[in-house]
Amino acid sequence: MVKKIAVLTGGGDCPGLNAVIRAVVRTALHQGIDVVGIKDGFKGAVEKDFIPLGFKEVSGILPKGGTILGTSNRDNPFAFSVRRNGQDIQEDRSDQVIENLAGLGVEVLVVIGGDGSLNIALELSGKGLKVVGVPKTIDNDLMATDFTFGFQSAVETAQEALDKLHTTAESHHRVMVLEVMGRYAGWIALHSGIAGGADVILIPEIPYDIRKVAEAVENRKKSGKKFSIMVVAEGAKPLNGEMVVERTIAGRTDPIKLGGIAAKVAGELEGLIGLETRVTVLGHIQRGGSPNTYDRVLATRYGVAAVDAVAAGEFGKMVALQGSEIVCVPLTDAVNRLKKISLDDPVLQTARKLGLHFGE
Ligand code: F6P
Repeated sequence: MVKKIAVLTGGGDCPGLNAVIRAVVRTALHQGIDVVGIKDGFKGAVEKDFIPLGFKEVSGILPKGGTILGTSNRDNPFAFSVRRNGQDIQEDRSDQVIENLAGLGVEVLVVIGGDGSLNIALELSGKGLKVVGVPKTIDNDLMATDFTFGFQSAVETAQEALDKLHTTAESHHRVMVLEVMGRYAGWIALHSGIAGGADVILIPEIPYDIRKVAEAVENRKKSGKKFSIMVVAEGAKPLNGEMVVERTIAGRTDPIKLGGIAAKVAGELEGLIGLETRVTVLGHIQRGGSPNTYDRVLATRYGVAAVDAVAAGEFGKMVALQGSEIVCVPLTDAVNRLKKISLDDPVLQTARKLGLHFGE
């Protein structure tokens, strides 16, 4: 019978993190399991930055965006940055994480994270730590789960932006290009593009031909539609071309920071068809704010299921949504390969049948 667990949130934040924390804490306490919160992802696990979590600490946090625990997309304990003799070096501090948790009497670590954090969880599990994962990311790019929490809220934000861009595009007869997040997968672009009635969607999974994009916009114009709405995933790339990297940031789980593809597409498009084009980069607005209803329910189900997994001894696993069921899958099935949109994806097929253009 487990008596104490710890929980941390790692990687980029997203709507619904607090809903998971609340569900974990409430479910655990009802079963007589104490919960320790770890601050700022794995950094707090290395530096012993812990706080007790009780009913009081999780009261009122369900609708709150962000994470009451803080997070980090650096601080991998297996390559932890420290300064020694005026130099930044990386050290393996994973043993310290295990010792720190054992010192507190923590028997199981619940990691709420995406590919990077769950990879670390898997490595710690390889060293004997009992871990349970919860799939988080607005990108929805984790394998073995139909949806990560946070994704639907991000899509809703992008869809609201598209609704607004529509009215101004129509008034000014412009082409509006919205750049959305998603890293190397086009899920946010595809789903928000459908929900927001976009005309063209560019995603990393389908490299685009700018002349074909221009043709689609011209055809709309010929049919009497003087404006067009485009959604471009930050990871979209031209045929035989590369993704646009805004910069690389050393020390992060993924050093590549994407950004700038919408400006590139808009510039080229204006050159080809002469229609006035404007760019909106939605950025971190997609990660902020309150989780929507779907994510509140999913995050709560994940939190409860994570404690169920602890009680059932399902360690080295991640809770996952498969169909309408929450199941436990080995962490090895979820990490190290991203879930991208396959060409036979039913939502992609829906978009194609609707006449949405993918720049092919
Ligand atoms: O993985 C979530 C995400 O928001 C991606 O969609 C995006 O590429 C990246 O994180 C942005 O990271 P940062 O918060 O470091 O700018």
